[in-house]
Amino acid sequence: SSSTSGDSTLSLGFEAVAKNKNDVVTIPAGYEVSILHALGDPLTATDADWANNGSETADSYNRRIGDGHDGMHYFGLSDAGAYQADRSDRGLLCVNHEYVVGPFVLHPSGRTAGANRTASEVDKEINAHGVSVCEIRRGNSGSAMTVVRTSTYNRRITSATPMNFGGAARASSLLKTKYSADGTATRGTNNNCANGYTPWGTYLTCEENFTNVISRATGDNASRSAKEITGLNRYGMTQGRKSPYFWETAGTDDLYVRWSASVTGATAADDYRNVFNTFGWVVEIDPFNPTSTPVKHTALGRFAHEGCWPCNAVAGKPVVFYMGDDSRNEYIYKFVSKALWDTADVGKGMTAGAKYMDEGTLYVARFNADGTGNWIELTYGKNGLDASNATYAFADQADVLVHARLAGDSVGATKMDRPEWGAVNPVNGEVYMTLTNNSNRVAPTATPSGSQLKPDTANPRYYEDLKSGTTSQKGNPNGHIIRWREAGNDPAATTFAWDIYLFGAEAAAAADVNLSGLTDINDFSSPDGLWFDRNGMLWIQTDDGAYTDVTNCMMLAAIPGKVGDGTAAVAAGGTATIKGANATSATLRRFLVGPKECEITGIAMTPDRKTMFVNVQHPGEDGSLAAPTSAWPSSQTDASSTRRPRSATIVITRTNGGEIAV
Ligand code: FEO
Ligand code: CA
Ligand code: CA
Ligand code: CA
Repeated sequence: SSSTSGDSTLSLGFEAVAKNKNDVVTIPAGYEVSILHALGDPLTATDADWANNGSETADSYNRRIGDGHDGMHYFGLSDAGAYQADRSDRGLLCVNHEYVVGPFVLHPSGRTAGANRTASEVDKEINAHGVSVCEIRRGNSGSAMTVVRTSTYNRRITSATPMNFGGAARASSLLKTKYSADGTATRGTNNNCANGYTPWGTYLTCEENFTNVISRATGDNASRSAKEITGLNRYGMTQGRKSPYFWETAGTDDLYVRWSASVTGATAADDYRNVFNTFGWVVEIDPFNPTSTPVKHTALGRFAHEGCWPCNAVAGKPVVFYMGDDSRNEYIYKFVSKALWDTADVGKGMTAGAKYMDEGTLYVARFNADGTGNWIELTYGKNGLDASNATYAFADQADVLVHARLAGDSVGATKMDRPEWGAVNPVNGEVYMTLTNNSNRVAPTATPSGSQLKPDTANPRYYEDLKSGTTSQKGNPNGHIIRWREAGNDPAATTFAWDIYLFGAEAAAAADVNLSGLTDINDFSSPDGLWFDRNGMLWIQTDDGAYTDVTNCMMLAAIPGKVGDGTAAVAAGGTATIKGANATSATLRRFLVGPKECEITGIAMTPDRKTMFVNVQHPGEDGSLAAPTSAWPSSQTDASSTRRPRSATIVITRTNGGEIAV
């Protein structure tokens, strides 16, 4: 099979931004930044502007921008109200609102103290999660865009929005709750981290740290089968585990009780013991139809979904989606649709979603030491996934999907250093995925305990970062980016070739840590967000805990080459002789640095490459009302601002109106 990098015409046409800890977004000379929307901004003409005092009602967050901006996607909008992939001056922007960053920002004076939460505060937090859809337009001049507050497309999806299930776990006993006795529906999406989109023009939002909003009572194991307990524990929901939100304490209405995955009635149909199973899915939303009901697609498996990225769809071939499970030592997956791609399905919304995502095959990845890899099928009755399974007696395909992690364990998948975003090169189909960091690996010569692992060829690093803060960080504190090429360049293939594209490191680190030869213009730590633009330029965003003593989180642009440019080998005894693809000033450059204590996550661009959207999550997250540490986004234009810090979407344009980074 042939594979070209396709990027010989690309060049990084901007001057690198210096690392810094300023309370602004820093961009290259010749670029401009504006704020599109931030937490609490109204999506209607009639709701008041955000007041900077927490006075907005809980109900108004059904019509306001949520908190914790994360993954997003831009869809061009035609004059007729349909998906128009090539339209750049008018579109719908879908943005994930992952979590409530700081109660001191959302509420008048922080969260009310006490063991039982105040219902009005909980209602507001429930409504501040989820997804926003808003129409955006360019003005009469320039390429900057603003929100159309009067648009009928503007919509909020929250942790209370009714949703349906699709796929093999729909209507299974594992999804039956008091709300949906037949297991076909549920309410709400939570902890929507990264995202995806479909070739037919819908948005995918992915449920990651859903354990954060669900509690489980002490002693709950007494009413559970051994098999249920195995599943709950494997997903981190041990009995007695309390959500930091304590939503379940706000009242006796099942709007609140449902946040405890515990027995509250005589039978499963009488309580929410299965509520935990109703989260951890990929959720499809049709932004062009504001009254459509979102669907949780169970065929794509249940785990801490970071995101869900499509292959380059080809007519007559399956549609393939790549996914990561963002927890330490978890897996990479892909889903291959049964239906073959028909371009006539563009614009068919949730009908197309059912066609391509209800039926198909889920695979999990194994990375072999020789640079090859295998996709292992997670289908009931294959690869030992049946009632005779010694690890976990699988009952049916619904059981395999709800407990995809256990299925991955059973078939010998490779445990990775926290899979975050994936991205598919539009030029050659190669797939990239960030492995952000992992503190749970031990030295090759050490004896692992508990869930610890030694390094392997795909996750090859163990070292101690003694520089950051007061405590050393051990394992793989700076992360890396892996990539693969499917056999025959066929996304549905069951084998692939892989290498390591890039290793995070500080420029000053020793050569055996700074394996990609990073310098001051491109050094970074903990890659997380990852996205290819239509030219094949790769954008890398960071969510870092190991380099924030020196710089705020950042975004870089890269010309990544192709599989085979990097190498990854660990010699006998575990001594690293590993090397990433070479990073030079011509192939990797820092484009942006965010404000204080933020994460840079989420990226989109108009098709003409003249308007870029980037999300800034949790600026000033270490502060409080009494001692704020950031006033961003107000600080972007007013250095003396004392307004509350807010997550926000920024708009970046060239001052000359031209294409970005050419
Ligand atoms: Fe929400 Fe994996 O970051
Ligand atoms: Ca992330
Ligand atoms: Ca992260
Ligand atoms: Ca973060």
